[in-house]
Amino acid sequence: MRIDIISVLPELIESPLNHSIVKRAKENKIVEIYLHSLREYSTDKHRRVDDYCYGGGAGMVIQIDPVARCIESLKAQINYDAIIYTTPDGQKFEQKIANQLSCFQNIMILCGHYKGIDQRIRDIFITHEISIGDYVLTGGELAAAVITDCIVRLIPGAISDHESALNDSFQDNLLAAPVYTRPADYKGYKVPDILLSGNDKLIEEWRFEKSIERTKLLRPDLLQ
Ligand code: 6GU
Repeated sequence: MRIDIISVLPELIESPLNHSIVKRAKENKIVEIYLHSLREYSTDKHRRVDDYCYGGGAGMVIQIDPVARCIESLKAQINYDAIIYTTPDGQKFEQKIANQLSCFQNIMILCGHYKGIDQRIRDIFITHEISIGDYVLTGGELAAAVITDCIVRLIPGAISDHESALNDSFQDNLLAAPVYTRPADYKGYKVPDILLSGNDKLIEEWRFEKSIERTKLLRPDLLQ
């Protein structure tokens, strides 16, 4: 899979995608991730990419020109299955959307910033508009990092034990069961006996019960 991310602040996205599973997936050629600085597509001598909002009001708007130039130069090289715009007024990001996006070959993510981008960019180029939740971030960069992280770990081969992605919370609308490691007894706080029993079938049943119990308690809305 290839992911191209366009932003006025690509530095903000770099670090989260250079560690752990995503880093390894890049090293193992399971994913290629390219960050593009929007300013490099500006023809303005100060490399500006924003301007005042027509009709007045506070805040700057990202202009069509640099964005169109960047998107078009990428589209001239490869075909994209999705061109995503990160914005608080987009569709709420959920595991099932991540699952769908992880099946694509090439995706592009355009990060919103300032007051937003010229609506015509959205009308012309964007196929998916995504928000990561009902709260406002400074820009869409952290959202793009969240979305990318979430997608990459789902690509076959990104996680060594592929099953472990299937057992994640939300994958079957259930929260994951609690996990423990050594020591078996920490100041009297004990690991449940069943996990030490070595009986795989009973352990699997226990985990399923705990999943349901936790979901009922913490996220009853998921069971509806
Ligand atoms: Cl995608 N962008 C911004 N600016 N704020 C957000 C968001 C995105 N998702 C939730 N809040």
